[in-house]
Amino acid sequence: MAADSLAPWEPFVSPSGSLAERAATFLEATGCAFEAEHSAGVVAEARCIALRHGVDSEQAEVGAWLHDISAPIPAAERIALAEALGIDVLPAERAFPMIVHQRISAVMARDLFGVTNRAVLSAIGCHTTLKPGASPLDMVVFVADKIAWDQPGEPPYLSELLTALDQSLEAAAWVYLDYLWRRRADLPVLHPWAADVYRELGEGTAGAQCGPSAQ
Ligand SMILES: [Fe+2]
Ligand SMILES: [Fe+2]
Repeated sequence: MAADSLAPWEPFVSPSGSLAERAATFLEATGCAFEAEHSAGVVAEARCIALRHGVDSEQAEVGAWLHDISAPIPAAERIALAEALGIDVLPAERAFPMIVHQRISAVMARDLFGVTNRAVLSAIGCHTTLKPGASPLDMVVFVADKIAWDQPGEPPYLSELLTALDQSLEAAAWVYLDYLWRRRADLPVLHPWAADVYRELGEGTAGAQCGPSAQ
């Protein structure tokens, strides 16, 4: 049963059908057809990346279908809802509420769509920023979301990221995090999870070739 705070969204959750159908229907019925299409793109990428890198592709697909399931929540309501759901809202999230959508999506996946797999909920909950100690599944959904991004045109980091993906999930994740890091002065916030995992990966094999950006 959903937490009371999510009760208004329960009528939009179909009780039957595949998870793909239920997720897409939910997004379309709540005015988020664009996010439904974006999510389908992320699912396709996540499936391929998971199969290629030895990660459970079914878990990757579930994570990808539900990663932006909180899209219908208006930005102005996200902090209050996150707090009502028991999320320990970070200062960066309070300053830029869009970024807390990843964590709200994880709670909605659990409470509205019945996802109990902690690895899947983790991947949903850090799909925007990644986080220190990220699992391969976390990285699959994160990288897939960056390849099938939700903005017009081709992502500026795409070719470098795809080249890095030939090497490892970590290297691909690092490419996007480095892109964020170099742009950090222009960003509303740099989420601490993104900063921490950027440093973590930079100290490991992923960043060994490039090293932390000095810019
Ligand atoms: Fe997202
Ligand atoms: Fe997304």
